Amino acid sequence: MKTIAIIGGSGLTEFDELEIIQRHDPLSFSFTSDSAASLGVPSSEIVEGILNGIRLLFLARHGLPNAIPPHKINYRANLVALQELGADFIFAVNAVGGIHSDATPGHISVPHQIIDYTHGREHTFFDGIYKPLDHIDFTYPYDESLRQMLIEGLSKQALNHGYSDFGIYGATQGPRLETLAEINRLEKDGCDLVGMTGMPEAALARELNMPYASVCLTVNLAAGKSKEMAPIEEIREILDTGMNEIKILLTNIL
Ligand code: HPA
Repeated sequence: MKTIAIIGGSGLTEFDELEIIQRHDPLSFSFTSDSAASLGVPSSEIVEGILNGIRLLFLARHGLPNAIPPHKINYRANLVALQELGADFIFAVNAVGGIHSDATPGHISVPHQIIDYTHGREHTFFDGIYKPLDHIDFTYPYDESLRQMLIEGLSKQALNHGYSDFGIYGATQGPRLETLAEINRLEKDGCDLVGMTGMPEAALARELNMPYASVCLTVNLAAGKSKEMAPIEEIREILDTGMNEIKILLTNIL
């Protein structure tokens, strides 16, 4: 039986549809006690359960409660923990700002490319400590068959707002939002979406040979794309309804 992992982001911290088998304590993994590997501890417990007859692992990227900022997430420990529990592939869920004109609040995108603007994050296993130097092929950062599963699921789903089967994800450092000039630059670079957690997660999954795709919910227009910042209640409402749609999507495609 295949095991699917879901990494939830802002607005998706639990998967309550899951029939829970076990909650794995973040300190229970073999690597957390192996100082030579120096990987540290995952963001939160990993919930193992069954959904539609499939074994599923759920991890809240920002921890529980939602507290770890994007640049402090231990992406490496998160991915190795999921691998240790037998994850065969990963669906990542990310909240983003919309740059492309279609990517308005509530819109769901299945990105196909990434530009990485982050810095100073532990972004590789091939650091000569955890593993010897190696180079992965990252031409196509997301697994195409997982992307197609998401896109097919979205095409059959009644959505409040639309979806896109593409998107260049610009990964920024955060936790602050971008300046107008930064968003203009990202747009010129070709970015459709901007978020803070897409990298190094996608690259680390590739380094571990774990197929990985992301589904992104636009929660706000990127800096300078609207006259004023949306009120927090409006963003919360978009986050709640959109993440609910993503839960339904993931439940359906499993
Ligand atoms: N910028 C960066 N990351 C984000 C944004 C944004 O506007 N919205 C949600 N995540």
